[in-house]
Amino acid sequence: MHDISKMRAALLRWYDEQGRSLPWRVRPEDRAKGIIADPYAVWLSEVMSQQTTLVHAAPYWEKFLAAFPSVTDLANAERELVLSMWAGLGYYARARNLHKCAGVVRDDHGGVFPVDEKTLLGLPGIGPYTAATIAAICADEATNIVDGNVERVISRIFAYEVPLPKGRKGLRELAGTLVREDRPGDYGQALMDLGAGLCSRTSPQCGLCPWSQWCKAHACGEETLYPKKDKKKKTPIRRGYAYVLMCGNKILAEQRPDAGLLGGMLGVPTSPWGERPKDHSAAPLQRNWEKAGEIKHVFTHFELDLEVFMAQVEEMKEGIWVEDISGLPTVFRKVVECAHKKTGPAGPV
Ligand code: ADE
Repeated sequence: MHDISKMRAALLRWYDEQGRSLPWRVRPEDRAKGIIADPYAVWLSEVMSQQTTLVHAAPYWEKFLAAFPSVTDLANAERELVLSMWAGLGYYARARNLHKCAGVVRDDHGGVFPVDEKTLLGLPGIGPYTAATIAAICADEATNIVDGNVERVISRIFAYEVPLPKGRKGLRELAGTLVREDRPGDYGQALMDLGAGLCSRTSPQCGLCPWSQWCKAHACGEETLYPKKDKKKKTPIRRGYAYVLMCGNKILAEQRPDAGLLGGMLGVPTSPWGERPKDHSAAPLQRNWEKAGEIKHVFTHFELDLEVFMAQVEEMKEGIWVEDISGLPTVFRKVVECAHKKTGPAGPV
């Protein structure tokens, strides 16, 4: 049987002693003194850390808070600047929504970031996970925080048999049975820390886990069988050509259309992505294209294989010419670096 109050107490004790220190986190001893996290800072951290590790997200968080100390500062910033500062974090719709959400908080909430789950759910780009997390951390609302790591922990504790993605709803309900009014923010973060650390996908450290005595999967030595998952379909491959036109230290870039993948971001010209192109009709007008190499990039639903072509021009005609490629999404940085490998160190990296 799961004794919920004992489980919560054991997890919170573990968190008090061993929870991670994160730049945006108010530690339990400070929380007990009444210090509460800034919802704007927590929101930024949560949106940035989806689909990536907290270690990868942390420098972006520092950079954003330094550039935009308040949500109104972020709302007032040029969208292009926000998108270019997001480059490298992926999932660029999130950056567009981030800026949009900041605008709504400025215009409809007087620049004060809401902290209740219901209001949060009405904001652009804020889904159930983010709303639940901000409300618990910043307002002690007893919400049900479920991210991928929590799904893994809960599926093991209950030896939950329904495979993902179909089983997601049931897992969320099971996680909800453990929610109580006591320290909701610390509890949710403890659970996420447990999933991110000890209860890892392939090598859980059950000997150190505060919940091992209640874990059904552990009782059978079957931890890594959970969460059960439906067989994955093979990732499709799309192909295309990418064109790096150089003029001295600069390359020709273009802004991608708002709708679609990497929308609103800067990139280099490419053919459509799909079947291998039959010709170079997508290339900017220039005849002496030379093949530089190939790159691969994995997106959520497909792998992209791009053949990279390069050419030099003497004069920058119309278009956007960039020297610093740090504001380009990773896939385009790979493309430009591939071209630079061919031209040697003279180019702008
Ligand atoms: N992963 C994403 N946000 C987190 C948080 N606030 N605590 C622990 N892990 C997290």
